[in-house]
Amino acid sequence: MSDLLRALAGDRPERTPVWFMRQAGRSLPEYRELRVGTRMLDACLTPDLAAEITLQPVRRHGVDAAVFFSDIVIPLRLAGVEVEIEPGRGPVFANPVRTADDVARITAIDPADLDGTAIAEAVGIVTAELDETPLIGFAGAPFTLAAYLIEGGPSKEHLRARAMMHADPESWGRLAGWLSRISRRFLEIQRDAGASVVQLFDSWAGSLSPADYRRHIAPHSHAALEGIGVPSIHFGVGTGPFLADMRLDGVADAVGVDWRMPLDEAIRVLGPDVAVQGNIDPALLQAPWPVLEEHVRDVIERGRGGKGHVLNLGHGVPPDTDPDQLTRIVRLAHGEL
Ligand code: CP3
Repeated sequence: MSDLLRALAGDRPERTPVWFMRQAGRSLPEYRELRVGTRMLDACLTPDLAAEITLQPVRRHGVDAAVFFSDIVIPLRLAGVEVEIEPGRGPVFANPVRTADDVARITAIDPADLDGTAIAEAVGIVTAELDETPLIGFAGAPFTLAAYLIEGGPSKEHLRARAMMHADPESWGRLAGWLSRISRRFLEIQRDAGASVVQLFDSWAGSLSPADYRRHIAPHSHAALEGIGVPSIHFGVGTGPFLADMRLDGVADAVGVDWRMPLDEAIRVLGPDVAVQGNIDPALLQAPWPVLEEHVRDVIERGRGGKGHVLNLGHGVPPDTDPDQLTRIVRLAHGEL
């Protein structure tokens, strides 16, 4: 069994498994070269291109997992929703979903109709090329997707999405339930094509109060992951105030921890039944190697008390990262430095 799967099962392999969120793309010159002239979402839907971009960081860094090159808004595009990714900004929707009518219209789309052919083909190319290295499939959690869909684009406090929960809880429940089925379908397509782990990204969950998270979000994220049949990681940013809820009542095999909370403290809060993933501060990738090295050793040390530990960043790789810093982290985790 691969070191990643062992750690997710609560085992302690000799070498700490490591991969990086957003390792595919952005910081790699070989990625930028491949992407010239192709829009982000078109690249995601071109199977040999998506497969090649997925494999680049595995070859370069020797990470313990590939993460599928795609985006959380891809299943929405496949469902016929008009969305683009604006460089440097993020997902932008032509028709934001704000009213009860908007919600009724979009939720009339059946997630089962989503055409996963291009995704399955890309995953198939990747898994045929990867020997032992597992491929992580992923999806956006219902709240993070709703935050984009309701605002129509990136926002700081996701006010409109949080408002809908209280102003029109019925529409909110309908939309979040639909998004959980959309994301579930995206995970199933990747799993069926060969992904052996899945991660649910709730990047913006940190803007919620614990009460709202429990009542309006957790049941939908739970539904997206429950019974998926492969090990799962549930990741959020700024989720310290309700970290234990991120376990989703035992549905998640591992919880992602951002850089704000020391990992040993997170492990205490989460308890002995769940593995952890994280939590190198992405800002330290800019520091001289000896400074970063000390931080990474500290994270690994604090992770020892966990049921299992997958080394990762507390959030994604910033675009201006020197890729050699990432390679050094991998070598350190593997005991080669
Ligand atoms: O992790 C990986 O390497 C796999 C690929 C991946 C991408 N997006 C590729 C991407 C994954 C897992 C995602 C998930 C994603 N997409 C999230 C959750 C993870 C997180 O970082 O919080 C979110 C919130 C999105 C939405 C999104 N897509 C944003 C905010 C942006 C940034 C816009 C920008 O240009 O700064 C994107 C675009 C995006 N997704 C890029 C990549 C490689 C950059 C586009 C490019 O290179 O042209």
